[in-house]
Amino acid sequence: MVESHQNNELLIYQCKISLKGLIPPIWRKVQVAGDIPLDKFHRVLQTVMGWGNYQSYRFIIEGVTYGPAAEAGPTLKDAADVSLSQVSQTEGSKFIYIYDLADDWQHVVKVERILPPAPGVQYPICLAGQRACPPEECGGIWEYTNLLEIFKNPRHPEHREMIEQFGGDFDPEAFDLGRVNRALQPIRGTKIRSKAVNDTPPAWSEADSKLYQEIAAVAVPAREEQMAALLTLLPFNPAEPFRAVEVGCGEGFLAHALLDCFTQAEIVALDGSEEMRLQTARRLDRFGARAAVEPFDLFSGDWLAHVEGADCIFSSLVLHHLDDAEKQQLFAAVAERLSPRGVFLIADLILPQRPEAGELFAAAWDRSAEAQALAQTGSRRLFEQFAQIGWNYYRFPDPFDKPSPLFEQLTWLKAAGFAVVDCFWLQAGHAIYGGYKADAGSPAGGISFATALRSAQVALRGVRNAN
Ligand SMILES: C[S@@+](CC[C@H](N)C(=O)[O-])C[C@H]1O[C@@H](n2cnc3c(N)ncnc32)[C@H](O)[C@@H]1O
Repeated sequence: MVESHQNNELLIYQCKISLKGLIPPIWRKVQVAGDIPLDKFHRVLQTVMGWGNYQSYRFIIEGVTYGPAAEAGPTLKDAADVSLSQVSQTEGSKFIYIYDLADDWQHVVKVERILPPAPGVQYPICLAGQRACPPEECGGIWEYTNLLEIFKNPRHPEHREMIEQFGGDFDPEAFDLGRVNRALQPIRGTKIRSKAVNDTPPAWSEADSKLYQEIAAVAVPAREEQMAALLTLLPFNPAEPFRAVEVGCGEGFLAHALLDCFTQAEIVALDGSEEMRLQTARRLDRFGARAAVEPFDLFSGDWLAHVEGADCIFSSLVLHHLDDAEKQQLFAAVAERLSPRGVFLIADLILPQRPEAGELFAAAWDRSAEAQALAQTGSRRLFEQFAQIGWNYYRFPDPFDKPSPLFEQLTWLKAAGFAVVDCFWLQAGHAIYGGYKADAGSPAGGISFATALRSAQVALRGVRNAN
């Protein structure tokens, strides 16, 4: 175990690994626990680089060579006997990792930072990288450089032969961070989100609330647009009184936008987290008696009393904590209690029905998070955090999250008694769907999307500024 001098804490090593001698460089950035033995660190390096682990390896650190136990002898120490923190203790230090003693792929490993572990993260984790690993056994650095030239030139006499040997789909520029982190999963042996670690009963913790507040602007795809879509779907006139309930209001942005758009509406905003309720109460204070913030437990039925006679119930990114049967029960209970003009709108993750759809949801979510991080902050830091904590459910499924198929949920809503049910918006596995009790909206109902978007922007303004 690596110990800091002050508090015996396990420390995390952030390392940058670069293949020596290649331009443009092939590199990865990883974080691993300092107490990782070098033989296991070798497996991490194989996985993040994309090597196949068919050949032997060496670490050369401060003049000492380490390698597999089976080859250990007077000049080669067993890599299983030492940890990373025992052989490298300073930020900025470098050492060499060689893979495939014939092809002699030399990697420079630089210890960039030594830092305390982040809450909820299971290590090792890959933070970033660029370019594909060279094909296994392609001969080494010069042969690989030559191979790239041959790949690029269809007229080269060896072009066909090389394509056949190494595969026509090899893309030297390709690097998929999500795929690398999925491949690291067996090495971690545990899930990487804080919520379901060990065997403790899954629950949303105050730490999760803090984490969500930090990353939501980036982690929720098109958050502003989703909020505006939910408001546009409400079948009410902006000056019409109606009563709304929000289930799992988080920081209260949506409730804020709703009260801003609909000047006679009242809302009860429910959340299980004290931190979230505090934020919401502060945000909604300006609306006086039109807003109430109450605690609730999603898994108890008590809170359904608030839905009695309400005209609108909505929920964003909360109901996926319920399993199929619990969702069906909730839909029936809500339909029974809502007023005849009532509407139930859900924004949430949905379960893909094909692995291909899962891949699409995962990739689209990553792209959205990366683009939002860059657009909002000019940096990838929040995206890296999003990837690091495994927030993308479609890459890192977690038993705490139980999204259900969209089609089934629409069927359950219909069976519960909603006259009109549909999915109204869908992006990166996030859908907005729900049911209306009445067949047709009131002729005077509804607000424009532009109005809704303005209110969403007003509500979210503070977060934008904070980021
Ligand atoms: C992912 S956040 C979504 C917050 C907000 N609706 C949004 O879209 O930004 C989930 C919210 O649900 C609350 N929550 C999660 N599980 C809960 C439970 N079992 N009971 C009560 N609240 C819960 C959390 O406190 C958190 O505010």
